[in-house]
Parts: sequence; C-alpha cells; structure tokens
Amino acid sequence: MDGHSDRRTFVNDYTPRPEHKFSFGLWTVGWPGVDPFGVATREPLDPAYTVERLAELGAYGVTFHDDDLIPFGAGDSDRSARIASFRKALDSTGLVVPMATTNLFTHPVFKDGALTSNDRDIRRFALRKVLRNIDLAAELGAKTYVLWGGREGAESGVAKDVRAALDRYREALNILCGYVREQGYDIRFALEPKPNEPRGDIFLPTIGHAIAFIGELDEPDRVGLNPEVGHEQMAGMSVVHGYAQALWHGKLFHIDLNGQNGPRYDQDLRFGNGDVKSAFLLVDLLEHGGYDGPRHFDFKPARTEDESGVWSSAKSCMRNYLILAEKARAFRADPEVAEALRAARVDQMSLPTLADGESLADLRAEELDLAEAAVRGAKVEQLDQLFLEHLYGTR
Ligand code: GCO
Ligand code: MN
Ligand code: MN
Repeated sequence: MDGHSDRRTFVNDYTPRPEHKFSFGLWTVGWPGVDPFGVATREPLDPAYTVERLAELGAYGVTFHDDDLIPFGAGDSDRSARIASFRKALDSTGLVVPMATTNLFTHPVFKDGALTSNDRDIRRFALRKVLRNIDLAAELGAKTYVLWGGREGAESGVAKDVRAALDRYREALNILCGYVREQGYDIRFALEPKPNEPRGDIFLPTIGHAIAFIGELDEPDRVGLNPEVGHEQMAGMSVVHGYAQALWHGKLFHIDLNGQNGPRYDQDLRFGNGDVKSAFLLVDLLEHGGYDGPRHFDFKPARTEDESGVWSSAKSCMRNYLILAEKARAFRADPEVAEALRAARVDQMSLPTLADGESLADLRAEELDLAEAAVRGAKVEQLDQLFLEHLYGTR
C-alpha cells in the first residue's frame, strides 16, 4: 500500500497530528492585519512562540521568509540570536522546517521587481538576499525553496521587456540551481504562480506558464511548483486541473492551501472556505493521487480576529482538510459511486486508445455505430449528484 494508509488511520476524529504533515508559514498566523486600507489590528507574533503554538495544535512543520525570522537589515548578532531562539523552539517541539523562501517584495527597493527588476544593481542585491537565506534554509533542513515573484511584473506595457525579463528570471534560477548543486544542499526550488497582486501583471501567472518556463532552465529537474489554491482561482482556472497537471509532470513539489471565492483580490481564506467543491476534489487528488509532500497552509486569519481567532482559524485549516479527506475516502468506498463511475466510463480513460500491438490499419478497419454512440448518455449527472451528496453530508 502507498504511504497514505497511515494517514487515514488518524482521519476519523479530525485531530491534526504530525503524521498528517500539516505546516504553516510564519507569515500566515503572524499576519497582523495590515492591508492597503488599514493598519495592523493585531500584535506581531514572536516566531518561537508561533512554533510552540503550532506544535500544540498538531502541525508538523513551519516555513518562513528570511524577513519573518530576521527583520530586514538586522545586524549579525541580532540575526544569530533570533535564529538561535527559533532553533530552540524547533528542537523542543520537534517541529521541522520543510520549506523556506525569500521576501523579495516588502522593501521599497523591490518596488519594480527583484530578480527581474529593470535595475541591474537591484537584481544583484536580490540574488545576494536569496543566496544568504538558502544557506539558512539548508542549515535548518529545508528541502524546498520557494520563489514567489510577487513584484516580478509590471503595470505599464512599455516599461518592461517581458522576453528580457524572462531571460533574467532564467539566469537567476540557473545561478541558484548551480549554487545549491555546488554546495551539495538537498534542496529543490518551487515556483509559485500568481496572476496579479501586488503587480498589475506578474510573470509566470499560472501553473501552465511556470511549467513551460521550467523546461527552459539548465536543471529542470531541480525546479518544480508551489501552486496556491487561491492564485489559480484568481486567474479563473480550475485549481484541481492545475494541481493534477503539475502532478502529472512530476512538478508538484510543494503546495499552498487556502480558500478563495473566484476571480477577485487574493483572499487567502482559511482552507476549506471559499470554493468548497474544489477543496473536496483537491483533497481527494492529494490523498489518492500520489502527493506525499507537506500539506502547507498559506492563509490569512481574518483581520477582524484577535489572537484566539488566529489559532482557531489555523486549527480549522487542518480540521477542514481532515474532514474532506474522510469525505473523499467515503466517496471512493461507496458502492453506488463505484457503479456510477463505471456507468460514466471514468475507468475507460485509463485504457490506451490503441491496444498493444494494434496497427492503424486495425483501427481504420473498425466502424463505430455512429447513431448509437451519438445518443448514448454520458451518465455524468447521477455521478456528480453522488459527489454533491457526499459533500452535503446526506450519504
Ligand atoms: C501571496 C503569496 C505569498 C507567498 C509567500 C511564499 O500571495 O502573498 O501567496 O504568501 O506564498 O511569499 O513565497
Ligand atoms: Mn495568496
Ligand atoms: Mn502563497
């Protein structure tokens, strides 16, 4: 059996445990509620305290941007003290750091991009910032390094040469891959697509754009994706199809789970909120489709909440995942569903269209009863209703 059977043992009481591999970014629960229209509504959280709270809730991992842990521009001794305090919390709780990333978007120096800024000095500064944090990521045991190009993009159609920018993006990835290889770090990169926000248009806006870009790199095997649920939905895409295609390409290195209500600003709702059907189907895909990485949440506890709301929403992300995992399991185990899947010929998709050894002459010799095939129902409605009823809780 695949590694998923262990996970299921724990699903029924919806209590998150380290075996479920749930992880959170420091910046998620730590979001103080600043938005373009208002100041913070909550106090910042200390990283070591966050680690302790996440461990109590049953998470197994924590992820971070360099600046989440060490304020931009901190001196060396301050830096070391902050890393030591974080490390101590990791050691005492057993929480791991599966992923790390760089903040290449907050400081004003990155206002026109980082790795693709028009300003060459800024591109060089950005590379130094990434290299420094990769060393820390390796030291803390991270296996995935995420690159989200929040500021890599443009508002003006004439102020950015897109093809040259992609050359620079590729150059940066090639340099970073070479560095990691030379250092012998066990790290792979994961690109995180997003269509817009904070830039009017961001480079590598969807899963598909990013997969095509990876094919142009020197070490394509070292680079995959960290797709975020809400980002694909902002682009009007099916997030389930996107994740499935990333899996099919062997590129689903890491994931950002959250919730979103269609194409609008990036909502970063807790996982399981927003498009609930997609959440169900996504969990079904992750649990039964061969994804074995962290179940990582990138959400923002609503700005309306105090600290207790922060922890309750973090807990709900994990609980919703487990509820949906149990529903997906029950759906797959339902004999009526199995029958409906057969009736809709879903299983036929796994059969090669040409049989082994069959020639095109054989294919051409065959005739389809067109009249019969044209009126044959696809039997989708009944199957889809069973899916909804599992989701609604009537089965
Ligand atoms: C966003 C992004 C970020 C990234 C994070 C890690 O829309 O703000 O999702 O949260 O995931 O910067 O790279
Ligand atoms: Mn987001
Ligand atoms: Mn994200």
